[in-house]
Amino acid sequence: MIIGCPKEIKVQEYRVGLTPANVQSYVEAGHKVYIETEAGAEIGFSDDAYRQAGAEITDKLTLFANSEMIIKVKEPIECEYDYFHENQILYTYLHLAADKPLTDMLLSRRIQSIAYETIKTPTGLPCLAPMSAIAGRLATLESAKFIQKTFGGAGVLLSGTAGTPKAKVVILGGGVVGLNAAQIAIGIGADVTILDINAERLAYIDQIFGMRIKTLSSSRGNILSLLPEADVVIGAVLIPGAKAPRLVHREDLKLMKKGAILVDVAIDQGGCFETSIPTTHNNPIFEVDGIIHYCVANMPGCVARTSTLGLTDSTLQYGLKIAELGVKQACLSDPALLQGLNTYNGKCTFKGVSDAFGLPYTDAKTALA
Ligand SMILES: NC(=O)c1ccc[n+]([C@@H]2O[C@H](COP(=O)([O-])OP(=O)(O)OC[C@H]3O[C@@H](n4cnc5c(N)ncnc54)[C@H](O)[C@@H]3O)[C@@H](O)[C@H]2O)c1
Repeated sequence: MIIGCPKEIKVQEYRVGLTPANVQSYVEAGHKVYIETEAGAEIGFSDDAYRQAGAEITDKLTLFANSEMIIKVKEPIECEYDYFHENQILYTYLHLAADKPLTDMLLSRRIQSIAYETIKTPTGLPCLAPMSAIAGRLATLESAKFIQKTFGGAGVLLSGTAGTPKAKVVILGGGVVGLNAAQIAIGIGADVTILDINAERLAYIDQIFGMRIKTLSSSRGNILSLLPEADVVIGAVLIPGAKAPRLVHREDLKLMKKGAILVDVAIDQGGCFETSIPTTHNNPIFEVDGIIHYCVANMPGCVARTSTLGLTDSTLQYGLKIAELGVKQACLSDPALLQGLNTYNGKCTFKGVSDAFGLPYTDAKTALA
């Protein structure tokens, strides 16, 4: 198969879909790989390193025109749409339930799209987990920074010191993001509460953190009871492939302390706070009713080298399978990949996406038949 990996163009996005080591794996398996000029240069993967691994370096237009499969990191943005051609394979993060224009483009151009974030094994989401781990850790680190007075925050040190109170960190969602956010928050010495709707998950969290964390079931009442004391609230919920549930409404902000911080990690699925609007690393925060909001949709992008290595460790095995078998056979032979299929031949094959936009839904196996 002919594979193309373009340079990412979102603001402050330096990750890249393939490392030189990945290119070598594709080339050794008999595939041809195009890499866009300087696609990995910012994070230490030079064009020469890609060349030595067997890639051909080229411009964006040539790459898209000649590739059967495009491997990216972020969902295409509007100025990239016109590079795609009919029936091309797109293997990347998509987050379609929060992006109608992209969904329309993929359907109208009959793109065979596989979303990293919906590939699902019995134990989890293997291509989302490495980025979630990074975003979770960053969520706490970023909140520690932006709650400082110099950034408009309440002027609180998360750890407190001897004789002063620890900051209260509330984490909504105890999945991969939530757990990693908690690890850092506990490590720093904050007072941490995790809420989730999944009782088994709360029991697991309770066990692994011992007596150093509080767990609560995620009900509206429990969330409201925590807001007045919270210094930091981290939104880390996920209903796979669907829009994030809204857990904090605008009127709830007046319950909170001025200068408290909301970190909406779930912003890539539409956000779990009503007042969230996606932001970028260039301008990550804004204020609503005295509450600082941090809503960067590509948080791991700021630690792009670690993120690229973590992401591509997980995506490589599925990418190689698609390159060897094509989308149809690869999905039919691997139930995890089948769940990754979002659009195929003009049909929406992911229930959460069709529900989000009232589009007709076609079961993935039926669409592939
Ligand atoms: N902004 C970024 O840069 C970035 C990076 C990585 C992940 N994410 C996003 O972070 C979110 C979380 O990802 P994850 O990998 O931790 O998912 P996950 O599936 O591991 O965990 C999600 C958790 O949310 C829980 N949940 C669902 N509804 C809930 C509710 N109403 N209240 C409380 N908990 C609820 C689930 O039970 C689950 O434990 C996703 O939206 C993901 O796309 C964002």
